[in-house]
Amino acid sequence: MNFELIICEDKNALAHEAATRFVAAAEESIAARGRFRVALSGGSTPQVLYSLLSEPAWRERIAWNKTHVFWGDERNVPLDHADSNYRMARESLLAKVPIPEANVHRIKGELESTDAAREYEDELRREFGLESNQLPNFDLVLLGMGADGHTASLFPGTDVLRVTDKLVASVWVEKLQTHRVTLTLPVLCVSHRALFLVAGADKAETLREVLAGGLDEPTDTRYPSQLVRPITGSLVWLLDKAAASLLP
Ligand code: 6PG
Repeated sequence: MNFELIICEDKNALAHEAATRFVAAAEESIAARGRFRVALSGGSTPQVLYSLLSEPAWRERIAWNKTHVFWGDERNVPLDHADSNYRMARESLLAKVPIPEANVHRIKGELESTDAAREYEDELRREFGLESNQLPNFDLVLLGMGADGHTASLFPGTDVLRVTDKLVASVWVEKLQTHRVTLTLPVLCVSHRALFLVAGADKAETLREVLAGGLDEPTDTRYPSQLVRPITGSLVWLLDKAAASLLP
């Protein structure tokens, strides 16, 4: 499997590299398809990226009226909760750029997670104009990786990793004792671009396992981030030096 691996000096350099790629993806997608549809991730690493993108020098390079923002996953909390991925993206980016409200497609974390999953799946079908058996092709999916190898809310060894008949699923995360809502693997694998942002020494050991063998071997469900293999799109792993410290 072809993928690009880029090691940046630190978290800020990583955000800079990610912002460059975000802007390029927006330009290319708008030129090719008239709009840019991006799925955001939660977590601390992308927050630095979102703040950077909200600065004038970056913000002015993006056609926000042609940009549609979605999420890869959401926590089961109200929209103003400290853990809300929507709140984080709104405060660090969306409130500071001229994006039309109609272009923001959030997952309703305040609902029962099964209802939130169903509503979000309906929204994706509407926005992408999908027939029942079609998948949405995001222009860019931003992803993080937890120290346990999870990505979006696809956690190791969970049943959701085998779901193929849904775009969105509600999951019970045993170790966090909470529900979450997540895009499923088939959706992540048909994106035009999947971009992982991984920073911090606590990820180094897992990352070594995840990237072992260059992602060529089909694997078990221990490391869900390893299962994101775009079928025709590109796959890029952006790491900081601390996260990459144990790579061969
Ligand atoms: C979430 C995520 C999750 C995240 C990783 C990495 O909602 O928590 O989308 O998959 O990306 O846990 O998070 P950090 O960047 O904070 O390490």
